[in-house]
Amino acid sequence: MHIAVIGGGYVGLVSGACFAEFGIEVAVVETHPGRLAALRRGHIPIYEPGLDKLVADNFAAGRLTFGDDIAAAVKGAEAIFIAVGTPARRGDGHADLEYVYAAAKQIADAMTEYAVVVTKSTVPVGTGREVARIIRAARPDLDFDIASNPEFLREGNAIDDFMKPDRVIIGIESGGADGGARAREIMKRLYRPLYLIETPIVFASLESAELIKYASNAFLAMKVTFANEMADLCEKTGADIHDIARGIGLDGRIGRKFLHPGPGFGGSCFPKDTLALVAIAREAGAPTHLIETTVAVNDARKVKLAERVIAACDGGILGKTVGVLGLTFKPETDDMREAPSVPILHTLDKAGAVIRVFDPAGMENARSLLPAGVFYCKDALDAASDADVLLVLTEWNEFRALSPVKLRQIMRGAAIVDLRNIYDPPAMRAAGFHYTSIGRA
Ligand code: UDX
Repeated sequence: MHIAVIGGGYVGLVSGACFAEFGIEVAVVETHPGRLAALRRGHIPIYEPGLDKLVADNFAAGRLTFGDDIAAAVKGAEAIFIAVGTPARRGDGHADLEYVYAAAKQIADAMTEYAVVVTKSTVPVGTGREVARIIRAARPDLDFDIASNPEFLREGNAIDDFMKPDRVIIGIESGGADGGARAREIMKRLYRPLYLIETPIVFASLESAELIKYASNAFLAMKVTFANEMADLCEKTGADIHDIARGIGLDGRIGRKFLHPGPGFGGSCFPKDTLALVAIAREAGAPTHLIETTVAVNDARKVKLAERVIAACDGGILGKTVGVLGLTFKPETDDMREAPSVPILHTLDKAGAVIRVFDPAGMENARSLLPAGVFYCKDALDAASDADVLLVLTEWNEFRALSPVKLRQIMRGAAIVDLRNIYDPPAMRAAGFHYTSIGRA
């Protein structure tokens, strides 16, 4: 079986490599010359554990190829995936579909035989239908079907999420007489290895599949935000957010995941997709007040938490040194997009703090986003040296392993503000720290 994947970015690369691992021949089309050359040299331009090996193995086996010629890639392809970027459009929060529609047009020009054209990028409701319209307008002679197959990949866990997903969502719309049977059969064959491990495969309409993606991310963003508000309430009432999360999460209707409190959600998906859903819903005349509030509460949280660091430096933060552990929006990624560290550190910088940071993977990407005067340190202990207050912003495992006694020796002050709850409060107090965390008395 042969497929084409348009776009060698995060989604295209992970999906392409994983389909190749399923035994399918995958031609990835990347038109950016620098990125294409890097991919052909075996250089993976993103940080994703396990991806370089998966790409290298399948590249060596000849199942995964990279090129810039769409016509060559779609030749003989039974499915053509559109996996190009859909960044948030400035101003209105809508996803920018310029690249998706350009890909649709190029696919139409290149196709010579039947294929199912599948949107993998996160796209607003109605995009699949528009892709179909573009292809039909350009090539009325073509026989094709349209499908929507949204991805649910978490950065840092993307390969496992692809290989062992909770479910696969496939929306199909067929203009043809068979009602989409051919497209359905192709999609089933593509995901055959997942049928064998009994993964639920949900077939739906195009619109439903497109909305499922947004609804999932918005619900999870809302769940995290709920946990964060409960954490605030715990602090006022003497309760413990981890007991609350476990206590409510054991109810199967609620579920235990995504109840860990923190500085607010970030990343390339939740902020963009919640804003896009708000825009879609408003435009459709069915505004989603819950998600509008989620966005506002999450934004406000980042400013509020910076004040907590200032409060930890009795007598003001002007001229005080803040040692920062972690910058990325979550561990196991170098992604700084919408990371809570950015607004928090800008607020501390404006208040006159001296800021020393360390992140195992995100420092390069952080440079253009953080205040100019920030010091980039060689490791966690370097960032903590002579700090008046230590601020934990990302829960990398290597920070969990730091010795509290050692930290206390190298720091000037005795304050720790742990916004990811990675340390044990009694152990920190025993080492002589004034330890502040989230939602724990
Ligand atoms: C998310 C979705 O999980 C994935 O299905 C979708 O395809 C893309 O968006 P990702 O952005 O990689 O994946 O990160 P995720 O692990 O879901 O975390 C999102 C944000 O929520 C992070 O900022 C994280 O720190 C925060 N979070 C998550 C919490 O604060 N608490 C939690 O309990 C879980």
